[in-house]
Amino acid sequence: MDRLKIFPGSAHPELAEAICQYIGVEPSPIEIGRFPDGETKVRIRADARGDDCFVVQPTYRPVNENLMELLIIIDALKRASAGRITAVIPYYGYARQDRKHEGRVPITAKLVADLLTTAGVNRVVAMDLHASQIQGFFDIPLDHIPAEAILLERLVRLGLERPVVMSPDPGSIKLANSMARNLRASLALIDKRRVSDTEVEHHYIVGEMEDRDVVVIDDMIATGGSMAQAIKAARESKARSVHVAVTHAVFAGPVHERLRDAAPDEVIVTDTVPVNMDQMRDVNLTVLTVSPLLGEVIKRIHYNQSVSAVLSEYKARNFQQAY
Ligand code: R5P
Repeated sequence: MDRLKIFPGSAHPELAEAICQYIGVEPSPIEIGRFPDGETKVRIRADARGDDCFVVQPTYRPVNENLMELLIIIDALKRASAGRITAVIPYYGYARQDRKHEGRVPITAKLVADLLTTAGVNRVVAMDLHASQIQGFFDIPLDHIPAEAILLERLVRLGLERPVVMSPDPGSIKLANSMARNLRASLALIDKRRVSDTEVEHHYIVGEMEDRDVVVIDDMIATGGSMAQAIKAARESKARSVHVAVTHAVFAGPVHERLRDAAPDEVIVTDTVPVNMDQMRDVNLTVLTVSPLLGEVIKRIHYNQSVSAVLSEYKARNFQQAY
């Protein structure tokens, strides 16, 4: 494969820039605009013939525009005779619509996978998919990268006492379990019931939290309903402190009020999507970057080296540094 090239979409140019800096390449120029009627206009302004092209674009707000833009960039690269096209999608939108949980609903996560493949993508890199089964919606290679090692390093540095890792719902138990093992913590679980798209309530809490440092782990915070309930449950169980660690800061609707009022000691997120710090004033927010991890993954893909090895190495390094 010829040269490694990074094409930033317009959803998160800062992350693409940071990835380029890590790898030591310039972002490849791409012109993105609008036709007068609102349609997306794309022009690749670099030679891509035979090249190993990576398009960095979380399918985040405005999700439909950013998804469509990604599809159009892939199409443009395909028609420019790119050697290989990889979509680097740090946050894969529509992932929560991953099954038919009731009659007459779509499986939009699968539709998005089909659209990407039809557009001409050859492989995908995604981080902490809402459900890891989404990997199976693709018939092309997909590297599924966890942000766990990055969150872990920060958590270990906090020097938590008698830590407990809490899963705010049964869906996140695997994430929580893995983090609990790495943090040498015990596990707690909330039985969350979703009342509507923005409202949740909890019924049972499994696990001991009294006088312990609690870390609530999830793949994302959207409206903050699940997290606010989890923080409240930990406080009611007399936790000593409550930290929150999630990969995707999707932050929508009433999230600011909910997190501010729930008042966790710290909310730790990554930059898989752009984070608006002003929106989250009065919340102790820490944003960790995934750019070196994604940069390393991209390099390994380009040089045909093991990606799972980078994950273990990364985790081991962070773990050692932290202890
Ligand atoms: C649910 O299954 C996810 O893991 C998150 O807990 C959920 O999507 C967060 O949504 P919200 O912040 O709106 O409660």
